[in-house]
Amino acid sequence: MKRIIASAACALIFAGICMAATPTFNKDIAPILYQNCATCHRPGEVAPFPLLTYQDAAKRAKLISTVTEKRYMPPWKAEPGYGSFANERRLTDAQIEVIKSWAEAGAPEGDINEKPVQPVFTEGWLGGEPDQVVKMPVKYSVPADGPDQFQCFVLPLNLDKDVYVSLLEFRPDNRRVVHHALVFLDPNGAGRKLASADGMYPCFGGPRIPVATLTGGWAPGAVPGARSQEYARPIPKGADLVLQIHYHPSGKPEEDQSSLGLSFSGPPSRGRTAAIMFNTRINIPPGDPHYVVKSSLVLPRDVELGGITPHAHYLCKEMKIAAYLPDGSVEPLIWIKDWDFNWQGGYQYKKPLALPKGTRVEMEYTYDNSENNPRNPAHPPVRVRWGEQTKDEMAVAFLAVVLPSPSDVQSFQQQLSAQYLETIFSGEVTLEDLPPEMTPQQRQTVTMIFNLFDKNKDGKLDREEVAALLEFVRSRR
Ligand code: HEC
Repeated sequence: MKRIIASAACALIFAGICMAATPTFNKDIAPILYQNCATCHRPGEVAPFPLLTYQDAAKRAKLISTVTEKRYMPPWKAEPGYGSFANERRLTDAQIEVIKSWAEAGAPEGDINEKPVQPVFTEGWLGGEPDQVVKMPVKYSVPADGPDQFQCFVLPLNLDKDVYVSLLEFRPDNRRVVHHALVFLDPNGAGRKLASADGMYPCFGGPRIPVATLTGGWAPGAVPGARSQEYARPIPKGADLVLQIHYHPSGKPEEDQSSLGLSFSGPPSRGRTAAIMFNTRINIPPGDPHYVVKSSLVLPRDVELGGITPHAHYLCKEMKIAAYLPDGSVEPLIWIKDWDFNWQGGYQYKKPLALPKGTRVEMEYTYDNSENNPRNPAHPPVRVRWGEQTKDEMAVAFLAVVLPSPSDVQSFQQQLSAQYLETIFSGEVTLEDLPPEMTPQQRQTVTMIFNLFDKNKDGKLDREEVAALLEFVRSRR
């Protein structure tokens, strides 16, 4: 009441000046909230409270002002000016300033006639009715509280022929708890072997299947792209999809049974694949506040880069990826200064980036394994290596690559694997450097090869031994 009298008095006494200077909910704040916050802050969605009515916003005016000023909300991790993204979710400085003065003025409501209509959100499939819908095999129960849960669900497609998917849409069932989802293609039924009888298994950093290709993802507020035969993805007969979901408890026991919608088309005219950058050689001493992991790859041919999905766990602080073109110019790809595992997702470029053959893509991730890192899962800190568990770390980036023709994909991937072998075997290698998620069978094969080439039996491969190994690999190709 006091507030209303104050603003009414203000309006009467200072008329023009006062009205112009003090933003109101109806005129200035509602449009910002509807456009930038309501996708998550409305009933039934991931955010803890709605931000639709005057009451919703007014009682949290100070908090809204603080979290927007700190750019904690809306969640958007990519540094502005470093890569230009179609799905950017960021307030302008002017919008943040308006929110701040509104909160400082006591959060006035303003003239009801100036209030915009509340946004209407499409329920159901955003990309239109799919041709095939696959649902999680079981309802998954999320407890009221406790740590976040990471589960993989095997979704058999039962395809009797190869298909092309022009749109893959994840549709969360219980949006209060689904924090994000990733979809992987599993051509060889590896997920089925990991899953229990109900078709699911716990998984944190990745789906733990050897040749997992990331084919889709979802985070709150994500909008699926348009159906496009040009960019359709092939899914071979017999393949499964493995859906990884990150659940965040909501305070009440919840259940979820999300689904995927697939739309089919004819074969694409272009080749779509992922160039995966990673470095498994992670060995972070406890207490180290600044541990750097790097990786690079050279593009073996001209490509178009549509988007990028960086990935690491809780210790990672900063991620920077850039492309160094043969002509000496630099294309910034993404820079995240304050990586937050809880807000990972895919970043789509406004316009696909043309990167010529010979472009060197470099990634540099920095990790903080000190006690001062509030996200450190270990107290006191412990030594951390590569792995897919919460206590492990990863350094990965998926580059969404488009090639002129689908027939280019296989040779592109072969060239990348050859490059990878050369990088990992280019220094002194020990068996300890093997990624821990290798299957026992892979480990056995690699150990056998390792022992064969470790001529002087000192437990590591030095440069000469590596050269002999590479020669062997090349001659077999
Ligand atoms: C992509 C989804 C999403 C969008 C968009 C979003 N939020 Fe949030 N917001 C959340 C979630 C989820 C939380 C709960 C905290 C967390 O998980 O980080 C939250 C928490 C908050 C909080 C409470 C913070 C605290 O410390 O208790 C405020 C205030 C807030 N959001 C305001 C906003 C405002 C204002 C906007 C728009 C400018 C916005 N949010 C946009 C998802 C979102």
